[in-house]
Amino acid sequence: MSETATNSAAVRRLTAADGTALQRMLARCSARSLHQRFGTAAPALRTFTESLVRRENAIGLGSWRGDDLIGVGSVHFHEDRPEFAILVEDAWQRRGVGAHLVRAMCDETVSAGWHHATVELLVPNTAARALLLSSCSHVWFSMPDAGLVSGLVMLRPLAAPREGD
Ligand SMILES: CC(C)(COP(=O)(O)OP(=O)(O)OC[C@H]1O[C@@H](n2cnc3c(N)ncnc32)[C@H](O)[C@@H]1OP(=O)(O)O)[C@@H](O)C(=O)NCCC(=O)NCCS
Repeated sequence: MSETATNSAAVRRLTAADGTALQRMLARCSARSLHQRFGTAAPALRTFTESLVRRENAIGLGSWRGDDLIGVGSVHFHEDRPEFAILVEDAWQRRGVGAHLVRAMCDETVSAGWHHATVELLVPNTAARALLLSSCSHVWFSMPDAGLVSGLVMLRPLAAPREGD
């Protein structure tokens, strides 16, 4: 039986110390997954790495299995909206890692004071659409435009702390 992410992977914020693990994860990803995430199979990995671990207007969340980073979710805070993006390495896809990351991205975004986020997907990316539809309570997708669909995700507020917490 395959391991599920919930009992083997932990999600935490990426820091500058995680750059090497991030580059290693990206090197394990297929050209198809990289293309779905970046729109190209040959992204500028160093730029991406630095944008996640060093920029003040972005949060990078990593899903870890031991010392290996196996999934990365990012929230880029534009002036008018936060934007989600996500990548799970191929060997860990369909094992709950993406859903776990999306929940953490939603929580971080709500904590930052936002109640919605956007996402841009290539039109054929049915996996990412299904992930968002199954993980978020309200999601709408635009009509395809220039090969892309835009998604609007309405976020649930974080649960209020219980008395005594
Ligand atoms: C999209 C992606 C992040 C999904 O991550 P994942 O870890 O495989 O997703 P999960 O295992 O948590 O799946 C959660 C739900 O999403 C849906 N889903 C995920 N992958 C799917 C697929 N290939 N086909 C159909 N539904 C899919 C299912 O409803 C799934 O629940 P289930 O497994 O109980 O049926 C992953 O496929 C990926 O990294 N793709 C390449 C990058 C990308 O497309 N990024 C999005 C653009 S920014």
